[in-house]
Amino acid sequence: MKRLTHIKAPAPSAPHGFLMTGPMADRNVRRNAMRQFGNTVLALTAGMLLGTTAVQAGGNVEVLHWWTSGGEAKAVGELKNAFEAQGGTWVDSPIAGGGGDAAMTALRARVVAGNPPAAVQLKGPGIQEWAREGALNDVEDVAVAESWDAVLPPVLAGIMKYDGEYVAAPVNIHRVDWLWANPEVLAKVGATMPTTWDEFNATADKLMAAGITPLAHGGQPWQDATVFEVVALGVGGPAFYQKALVELDQEALTSDTMVKVFDQLRKLRGYVDPNFSGRDWNLATAMVMNGEAAFQIMGDWAKGEFLAAGKVPGVDFLCAAAPGNGYILNSDSFTFFKVEGADELEGQKLLASLIMSPGFQETFNLAKGSIPARIDVPMDKFDICAVKSHEDLAAATAANALEPSMAHEMAVPRTVRGEFLDVVTNFFNSDMSSEDAVKALSEGIKRAQG
Ligand code: BGC
Repeated sequence: MKRLTHIKAPAPSAPHGFLMTGPMADRNVRRNAMRQFGNTVLALTAGMLLGTTAVQAGGNVEVLHWWTSGGEAKAVGELKNAFEAQGGTWVDSPIAGGGGDAAMTALRARVVAGNPPAAVQLKGPGIQEWAREGALNDVEDVAVAESWDAVLPPVLAGIMKYDGEYVAAPVNIHRVDWLWANPEVLAKVGATMPTTWDEFNATADKLMAAGITPLAHGGQPWQDATVFEVVALGVGGPAFYQKALVELDQEALTSDTMVKVFDQLRKLRGYVDPNFSGRDWNLATAMVMNGEAAFQIMGDWAKGEFLAAGKVPGVDFLCAAAPGNGYILNSDSFTFFKVEGADELEGQKLLASLIMSPGFQETFNLAKGSIPARIDVPMDKFDICAVKSHEDLAAATAANALEPSMAHEMAVPRTVRGEFLDVVTNFFNSDMSSEDAVKALSEGIKRAQG
């Protein structure tokens, strides 16, 4: 296999790894790619005009995805409409369940049955895993005709390619480390957006005293892990996050800093309402919207929910980076599975082309809460939260503080992610000490690594 240009090829000790485990050299490759990404983002500014792309007509495509909440459905509806407007036939296969765990199980079953969907919402190292199994079709001819290499951040282009050819197309860049808040609820206790975890805790204590739920949360493993990684970045900083959650360095995993991360998570556990267990993330967002809770810690798909409900950022809801430095990156993409038949192949190409068209990247991301994956889409129609995400992305890249999301499958193989989710969720739902959680995490990760 040819080595990927921008990310390291999987090492035998880390078979599914993207940006992960091991020697300094690998880290430098990742850092350089991230830095290059930042430079490109900085260089290509919003002044550039939307380009046009060659879109073919027709074809069939079955699309498996997990975008079923209000904001998500609106966003994927944009893709379906654009596809149908080009004469294509869209077969919708939504699998409910935030974070995509249920969708990934359904996908495995479909592939094993020899009947994969043509396009699948899939990301990060998962793309490489399926490519290595020989399960994917490439869309290289579309990518070459439309010069994708020139308009994608190198770090994303690398994730979309296998053996030097595009097998997936990215729709967006989501930021994970966000704090969402209801300004009216904060005003009740005279609080503003906290900028440190101590401030967060102090505000949460005031809210508790006033009988208000500080933190809207849904007790599902991927949501627990989302909060955990945001706290890990905030408490430990980007270098710690990189070592512990990306490189799986045992020293970092068992450090006092990791104990502090769990201590803060324990604090947060005290700030959720009694009915948090099993709650969907968008219902937690609705609690903030309706004034039933003050904050939610969630990626900017939460903004898609606020927007779908007609809420205005900075007025009806507030967005701020969660306390700490850095930026946790998550990017959605569609991956093309091996299907046969002229209509199906045509459908895959049409979808790939549409996903990467500048107009679609704008419309879709305005609804989804994310920012475009293409670097040449102007940001002038985007709201203050998206503009902040765009600016912070460039700044974090320049400062070596851009980190891939563990919880959202951008950093480590599914088996390793599974260990994080188990420990974090067990911790959240028991009185386990932080020290015991650290021990369990260290052992679990060793086990997953074989
Ligand atoms: C995906 C988002 C999605 C969220 C909740 C994340 O992993 O990247 O697109 O909205 O899960 O379902």
